[in-house]
Amino acid sequence: MGVTRHPLFDDGHLSGVPADRAAIRRVRASLAWLLAQKTDVIGLFYAVLFVRHPELRGMFPGDLGDVKCRMRAALALCVARLHAPETLAEELGRLGRLHVARGVRPEHYPVACDCLIEAMHRTSGSEWSAELEHDWRETLRVICDAMLRACNGEDSTR
Ligand code: HEM
Repeated sequence: MGVTRHPLFDDGHLSGVPADRAAIRRVRASLAWLLAQKTDVIGLFYAVLFVRHPELRGMFPGDLGDVKCRMRAALALCVARLHAPETLAEELGRLGRLHVARGVRPEHYPVACDCLIEAMHRTSGSEWSAELEHDWRETLRVICDAMLRACNGEDSTR
């Protein structure tokens, strides 16, 4: 069908993909719900990451407070703009290049995504579903692709 953009990022000019708008709504509702819980999902994410991959801890500052805040804000921004991804290209490009400077390699991204999904799953309890996991995996894949694309010297503004 000649669709060249990620379906989650349907901007309204493509037709026949109503499920994608629903997916965006689900991801937005999920993040709002997660961030309103007592359990700090982002704190849990880093805890899971460092238990599973202790070798990555040294990349981060001792005090994770700022990193957690920025990660929270970045996720909120990306999810808010899922319908208009072109507005994220510059910010995700900057973020991707910053990660390269910190020693983050492409193979770290799927590792971090798995840990974030696990933290979300554990925080969500019975609110979690296979559909939501799929929605989140697609969302994170698109975010990571945009971060990595900028590092590969590809045009991140398209
Ligand atoms: C979904 C993908 C990711 C997102 C949205 C994300 C988000 C962020 C944000 C917003 C910051 C703060 C940037 C700033 O200071 O302006 C950050 C910092 C950082 N992230 Fe990520 N990140 C992602 C993946 C990863 C991965 C895969 C790693 C590898 C382990 C990683 C390691 C780091 C490190 C080392 C820092 C810098 C900490 C510091 O020195 O302040 N991130 N990340």
